[in-house]
Amino acid sequence: MTRVTFISADGQRRQEVDAPAGSVLLEIAQAAGQPLEGTCEGQMACSTCHVIIESADFPQLKRASEDEEDMLDLAASATRTSRLSCQILLDGTMERLTVRIPAEAYNMQGM
Ligand code: FES
Repeated sequence: MTRVTFISADGQRRQEVDAPAGSVLLEIAQAAGQPLEGTCEGQMACSTCHVIIESADFPQLKRASEDEEDMLDLAASATRTSRLSCQILLDGTMERLTVRIPAEAYNMQGM
């Protein structure tokens, strides 16, 4: 089980969810109502599942593949700790993971 904390782009809202081992971060985010579109459903053909990982948690994650890096290059407001949430498998080894939702996710939903 990993306790995932989602932080809204403006830092004002936090939501904590328990993710069972084996879940994919994008699915956990969507189930929690976070505004990540994930248009290509994990095919690495969009970047609408882009999230920003808390820098302290970033080293715990497996490195991004080259394909993921290429997609991230196209994501608006990507940072050094950006990842595609559809590529992040929560294997149960991490106790906590804190994730920030980028501002463009809200724009896409007209929020
Ligand atoms: Fe499209 Fe993650 S859902 S790249």
